[in-house]
Amino acid sequence: MKRIVVLISGSGSNLQAIIDACSAGFIEGRIQAVISNKADAFGLERAKRAGIATDVIDHKSFANRESFDDELLKKVQAHEPDLIIMAGFMRILTPNFITPLLGKMINIHPSLLPKYTGLNTHQRAIDAGEDEAGATVHFVTEELDGGPPVLQTVVPILEGDDASALAARVLQQEHTIFPLVAKWFCEGRLNLDNGRAILDGEILPSTGLIHSN
Ligand code: GRF
Repeated sequence: MKRIVVLISGSGSNLQAIIDACSAGFIEGRIQAVISNKADAFGLERAKRAGIATDVIDHKSFANRESFDDELLKKVQAHEPDLIIMAGFMRILTPNFITPLLGKMINIHPSLLPKYTGLNTHQRAIDAGEDEAGATVHFVTEELDGGPPVLQTVVPILEGDDASALAARVLQQEHTIFPLVAKWFCEGRLNLDNGRAILDGEILPSTGLIHSN
């Protein structure tokens, strides 16, 4: 059983998908703790209901990003995790946190990376006249939303879509691809090597694999 720590800031629907996948034995892992930078994140309730330890580290009580990251690193490392999952964790992290944990962190970003890093991804995709949006699970590196992709899900943009309708359909698919990548990692099939994502010994394409339903 791999040891997992999940970082959240909000609703935690992706966290729920990971909790369920661990309970079902789909992921050979156990969530040791859920840590949020926001005390009112609903994901904390989800963790408590599942009997998982929770912690809150309020970024507003730190003088700068580095000191927050140092505290976060200390709390995360106390759980001796094999895998750190960022499931809607809305803080930009510095090398203070990332460098010691490189290769052990995955994130989900709601766009088809490398397109639309940052915020408001769905609105930006609609405004640009794209006919497809989606989400990407990627390794976290020092570059914001720039770590190598592992798996993408593609969701068509429909006539008359607004950002929230599109986001809801993408989120549904996130709940499939994120547990799947966590499963691969916990089975020892996935690793980060020299800035490249490797699955079953093969270097993944620069967009990651495309998940088909
Ligand atoms: C998701 O859209 C994810 O892609 C983004 O933040 C959102 C988190 O949603 N990084 P939830 O908290 O998992 O429901």
